[in-house]
Amino acid sequence: MACCHYFAPTGTGDSAFSVDVSAITFGPGVLAEVGDNARGLGISRAVLMTDKRVGALEHAAVVKQSLGDAGIDAVVYDEVCVEPTDESFKRAARFAKEGGFDGFVSLGGGSVIDTCKAANLYSTYPADFLTYVNAPIGGGAPIPGPLKPHIACPTTSGTGSECTGIAIFDLTAMHAKTGIVSRNLRPARAIVDPNVTRTLPRNVVAASAFDVLSHAVESYTARPFTKRAAPGGASLRPQSQGANPWSDIGCREAMRLLGAYMVRAVTDADDFEARSQMMWAATLAGIAFGNAGCHAPHGMSYSVSGLVRDFKPEGYPDDRPIIPHGMSVIANSPSVFRFTAPACPDRHLDASGYLGADLRGAGVDDAGEVLSARIISLMKATDIPNGLGGLGYGEEDIGALTEGAFPQRRLLDNAPLDISKESLAGLYKDALAYW
Ligand SMILES: NC(=O)c1ccc[n+]([C@@H]2O[C@H](COP(=O)([O-])OP(=O)(O)OC[C@H]3O[C@@H](n4cnc5c(N)ncnc54)[C@H](O)[C@@H]3O)[C@@H](O)[C@H]2O)c1
Ligand SMILES: [Fe+2]
Repeated sequence: MACCHYFAPTGTGDSAFSVDVSAITFGPGVLAEVGDNARGLGISRAVLMTDKRVGALEHAAVVKQSLGDAGIDAVVYDEVCVEPTDESFKRAARFAKEGGFDGFVSLGGGSVIDTCKAANLYSTYPADFLTYVNAPIGGGAPIPGPLKPHIACPTTSGTGSECTGIAIFDLTAMHAKTGIVSRNLRPARAIVDPNVTRTLPRNVVAASAFDVLSHAVESYTARPFTKRAAPGGASLRPQSQGANPWSDIGCREAMRLLGAYMVRAVTDADDFEARSQMMWAATLAGIAFGNAGCHAPHGMSYSVSGLVRDFKPEGYPDDRPIIPHGMSVIANSPSVFRFTAPACPDRHLDASGYLGADLRGAGVDDAGEVLSARIISLMKATDIPNGLGGLGYGEEDIGALTEGAFPQRRLLDNAPLDISKESLAGLYKDALAYW
């Protein structure tokens, strides 16, 4: 059982947590309901954002038809960049500003949904690009008010971006990812249709499943909200508020579903039951981490993906090297969970049990080892690269990886224990190879 005192009052920390979620419709066939929903939100002229590959699939045809049937004037923008950059965000924002839209529909993975959030933001409240980007990298300015309605339709079983107030991009000049975080970025409605999983390449299912896994385990083992300083006002309570009783619910169920279905979903494209369950796990973990926050594996991933040299994974566009988000995260996770386990061993042990580890004979002292061993066995079963070495990094890169990740305070400060620059370098070193 999880430690019943994890959220015990601390006297100096916060005494409340918030729950913010998009409205969600889940089920096979619901993409055909996008038009009706758009009309309900008062949209008359929408931009439908997608990427080139998804835009050519039947899923896009279903959404276009649905918008047309509802009498909505819809213009397609399919120039979204997979693993978006500041430049690709700006291009989408320019398109949105010039188009004079009163609503946004995104159809795609996290790359598309995040780009749509940014386009909505910068076309509604124009500003220099770094204005709203997380401090200390950007200005961290609050978004001045509500955005236009955005209906997000995820087509990967991964990021959960359809219900988070987060948009992530690669700041190319810095060679690291960073993001914009605000409750105002959260889509008005998520339309989650498991039918989209039928066309997913195996490697995209695998990478995005590990993104889900790390969202759930990181949120479950994050610093409790009671140990974060109380905010000066309601609007200052961060979305990365730390583990809390609400996020625990989504994390537990997402981890259980991952333990039961992820290998099946990756290895058998015809296993619709497994792929549907992964879609639900992704949404649940998105609801959870959108209200708790991830920690070190995600913080460390931002320089892992930003410093990519020549990695070109199967199943992804091959026009430029990319390290898919889920791969850049999970490469760090076993190393991090070995390190963080002493801070809340019960939670690490629980997590490995939900993920399907055999806990017979295991005690809290083994928690970090048991959890990382379970994750490593799932990585092997789904042909995920062997740690940072498998993504093209070596000992000589640890300095640059550490420098890129150390400013990611939103994430690193949400870990259950303090992470110095020295320990961060050690975490990268221990993530170089797992088998
Ligand atoms: N905003 C958030 O809360 C959040 C959380 C986690 C990750 N992210 C970000 O999301 C991005 C990654 O998103 P992702 O993992 O969902 O993948 P993605 O959007 O990058 O897409 C991966 C590939 O799969 C293809 N694809 C997508 N759906 C498909 C389908 N149904 N059939 C066939 N091909 C399909 C795409 O065309 C692309 O080539 C990263 O930039 C990451 O940083 C955001
Ligand atoms: Fe993620």
